[in-house]
Amino acid sequence: MKAILTKEYGNADVLKLAEIDKPIIGDGEVLIQVISTSVNPMEWKVRNGEMKMMTGKTPPEILGSDFSGIVSKIGSSITGFKKGDEVYGMTDGLKGGAYAEYLKINEDMFAIKPGNLSFDEAASLPMVAQTAYQALVHKAQVKKGDHILINGCTGGVGSVAVQIAKALGCTVTGVCSTKNIEFAKSLGADHIIDYKKDDLLENENSYDSIFDTIGNHSFAEFKKTLKAGGVCVTTSPTIPAMLFGSVLNLFRSKKAKIIMVASSKQDLDAIRTMFQNAQIKPQIAHTFPIEEIKDAHNLSEKGRVVGKIVLKIQ
Ligand SMILES: NC(=O)c1ccc[n+]([C@@H]2O[C@H](COP(=O)([O-])OP(=O)(O)OC[C@H]3O[C@@H](n4cnc5c(N)ncnc54)[C@H](OP(=O)(O)O)[C@@H]3O)[C@@H](O)[C@H]2O)c1
Repeated sequence: MKAILTKEYGNADVLKLAEIDKPIIGDGEVLIQVISTSVNPMEWKVRNGEMKMMTGKTPPEILGSDFSGIVSKIGSSITGFKKGDEVYGMTDGLKGGAYAEYLKINEDMFAIKPGNLSFDEAASLPMVAQTAYQALVHKAQVKKGDHILINGCTGGVGSVAVQIAKALGCTVTGVCSTKNIEFAKSLGADHIIDYKKDDLLENENSYDSIFDTIGNHSFAEFKKTLKAGGVCVTTSPTIPAMLFGSVLNLFRSKKAKIIMVASSKQDLDAIRTMFQNAQIKPQIAHTFPIEEIKDAHNLSEKGRVVGKIVLKIQ
């Protein structure tokens, strides 16, 4: 099968197209024929060695988290899926596997693809939509009527987060740059803070929750903008926050939380319902054939993408 191999850490030049054998599945695994995948910052952070502490001396041989595709073969103990099912899901991003024509995966890490989405659209979602859903629903436990601040509301995660928060009945203030204001409004943001002109920290005691997808402000800075009892969830925690955050939360009314996304069939099922009800729409910024993976990584690494980058494998 065709796959993008990563034998060493480095810039996008370490990504090499190759022919290798298909994975062999065990009893509890499923073989997926991958139709499309997507680029997340996670993959180039793993590729360039930023996450070596978790990935070890060499990177995973095949990177890639998101996928959409078709069930090709099931292990003997699999009951929830059958050959031919159209599915979408996410690997463990630190282990990868999705930049290939076939991948093997456990059945609790993917779900039936939303029927109204193409394979490209479905592949743009699993990481960003699960990150946004798990941050808002599981971590912040937002509810109808809450006012939510979304820092970085036009990126892959932020653009889905705005739509999920609106679908849950929240009022959303989105933080973006001047050029992306109209896009942020089109996603449903009720209020915009243009970070090029305004200070997002100036509205004191305003938000029930903050979802920070950028990591350019500390919890100490965000705290004053939260209402009493508010929660700030970040995708980019500092090491002290990872080590001590949950202990410190025991002694403070405003809580700092971290999202570390993990693929869940249950969450993908809930997200599918939101897509099928047209409460949220995928936002694809660019589509590349898998052969142009280097260009796709270089583009993502600039940090300016509005929506998602999709990679077509088949
Ligand atoms: N912990 C987890 O489980 C988890 C999961 C998923 C992602 N992440 C992390 O979350 C971060 C976001 O991921 P992503 O996929 O959304 O990235 P992305 O799509 O690459 O984000 C790019 C977007 O960020 C905006 N942006 C850049 N600087 C900004 C600023 N100062 N204020 C507001 N917006 C700004 C850009 O718009 P402008 O050019 O207009 O500024 C662009 O639209 C990454 O660091 C990623 O690694 C973590």
